[in-house]
Amino acid sequence: MKILVINGVNLNLTGRRERGIYGEETLEKINEELASFAASRGHSAEFFQSNSEGDICGAIQSAEGNYDGIVLNAGAFTHYSYAIRDAIAAISVPVVEVHMSNVHAREEFRKRSVLTEVCRGEILGFGKNSYLLALESFFL
Ligand code: DQA
Repeated sequence: MKILVINGVNLNLTGRRERGIYGEETLEKINEELASFAASRGHSAEFFQSNSEGDICGAIQSAEGNYDGIVLNAGAFTHYSYAIRDAIAAISVPVVEVHMSNVHAREEFRKRSVLTEVCRGEILGFGKNSYLLALESFFL
């Protein structure tokens, strides 16, 4: 299987921003671990990050026919981007929504995701392991 891991707005700062919440590892390091994990299971993972909502919609659209699944941490777009929601609904590639933090234990606005309804499932609250668990869900 070939899985696309998409990270949205501000996730390029992982390891440098709010470390008490998002941990000390950079996104590059996390992605390396995900690539090794996928390879160890005989699969592959590719990576895309953007702070632009439109670019994320483009990456989701382009996944059709090219990937078997998407792991998506849309960052704050999660809470209000109907454009990303519609892009997910427009493709047949399954999407697993990811959050490193337990968004339900934080501010009120983080408790609502406009994406979950159109995703295959959601994994949150396990730090960088949320990505690993989401990736693994495709290999079960
Ligand atoms: C996040 C949670 C979002 O609420 C936040 O805006 C992020 C990261 C997470 O991984 O926990 O940027 O998606």
